[in-house]
Amino acid sequence: MKQIELLLTGIGCLYTPEGIQPRYGEEMGRIRQMTDAAVAIEQGRIVLVGQKDEVITALEGAHIVETIDVGGRMVTPGLVDPHTHLVHGGSREHELAMKRSGVPYLDILAQGGGILSSVKSTRSWSEQELYDKACRSLDEMLLQGVTTIEAKSGYGLSLEAELKQLRVSRRLHDTHPVDVVSTFMGAHAVPEEYKGRADEFVDLVIRDMLPVVAAEGLAEFCDVFCEEGVFNVEQSRRILAEGKRLGLHPKIHADEIVPLGGSELAGEVGAISAEHLLTTTDQGLASLAAGNVVPVLLPGTSFNLGLTHHARARDMIDKFRLPVALSTDYNPGSCPTESIQLIIMLASLNLKMSPEEILTACTLNAAAAIGRAGDIGSIERGKRADLTIFDAPNLAYLPYHFGINHTFGVIKNGIPVVW
Ligand code: NIG
Ligand code: FE
Repeated sequence: MKQIELLLTGIGCLYTPEGIQPRYGEEMGRIRQMTDAAVAIEQGRIVLVGQKDEVITALEGAHIVETIDVGGRMVTPGLVDPHTHLVHGGSREHELAMKRSGVPYLDILAQGGGILSSVKSTRSWSEQELYDKACRSLDEMLLQGVTTIEAKSGYGLSLEAELKQLRVSRRLHDTHPVDVVSTFMGAHAVPEEYKGRADEFVDLVIRDMLPVVAAEGLAEFCDVFCEEGVFNVEQSRRILAEGKRLGLHPKIHADEIVPLGGSELAGEVGAISAEHLLTTTDQGLASLAAGNVVPVLLPGTSFNLGLTHHARARDMIDKFRLPVALSTDYNPGSCPTESIQLIIMLASLNLKMSPEEILTACTLNAAAAIGRAGDIGSIERGKRADLTIFDAPNLAYLPYHFGINHTFGVIKNGIPVVW
């Protein structure tokens, strides 16, 4: 090693899952833990990680451009948020009173509010307005310690408006320190002009939208809201199959309100991930396991919808050996928060996940949910140097001391972007 761009020392404790595959079941709790550690970075990649003394010895004779002492703080991989609806116009606080008085989420949608209210704003906002709003949210995510996110379209619901959202995501990826991975979700709701004609809208998504999105390389994944009164299993299957044929890997919003068969479909089509899973049956969980699907749990959504039931994280981990991931689901309706640290707390409180499982779910398994486990999600030689430094004495401190931001610094591609 001739040159080291950045050497991080003074790491009081370092926690990381290991490997380039998701961690399944009980493996989620087995993470590497080190005190007095150091990490050496060159060309944006991790080249050495270990006990400080060992790292210093291994680096003898190398030219070290910059050394940063993190003052005994805690270091984890940069957090990954694999399910967000980042780009949208407007907000929906006008629906709060209705929501709090007990009107169900799907009823608000059926009355033309909910997602359809955000569709109106998103259609009318310019690309620049959407960019500016999403950029502020992305800044907030970065401050929370997040270095990569996934972002879905789905508030356009017409070819032009979907492309507008996806172009904004791409521009954010190109200009913001946080990496943005794009998902096309043209089937997020049936737009007003297709009310009662869901099949025709599905035809439009398949015939007019998917080919253009694929040809322009604007998304890697294709997602569908498979839910009662939204898109049924057959409609979801048609969209995901066509997306897959065009090279867009399937994802699915499944079993959020009603267990319609979305998890079974996820296994059948070989989806990379299935999200929400608040009401998934044993049969659905078995299908996820058989299809090697990453379950992405969104405890902020059940919390904000005021639900008393939660995703069956313990069964997923203990009985079905699934590689659980966690995410904010940041969106203007069911979960208006950019705070992954709130999600960490809720995963502990409501999903009964251990701090080690939560870390794996927010890093390596989250990376696997967006096809990035080979590149990010752990602090290991060869991986991208995305690291978060927390002002915390140990890992359990994150879900324990809640409601504040513990982030001290963030390193993205070997560069300190928050300090
Ligand atoms: O993941 N469930 C569907 N989609 C989003 C909510 C979108 C919205 O309410 O604007 C979700 O929760
Ligand atoms: Fe969502």
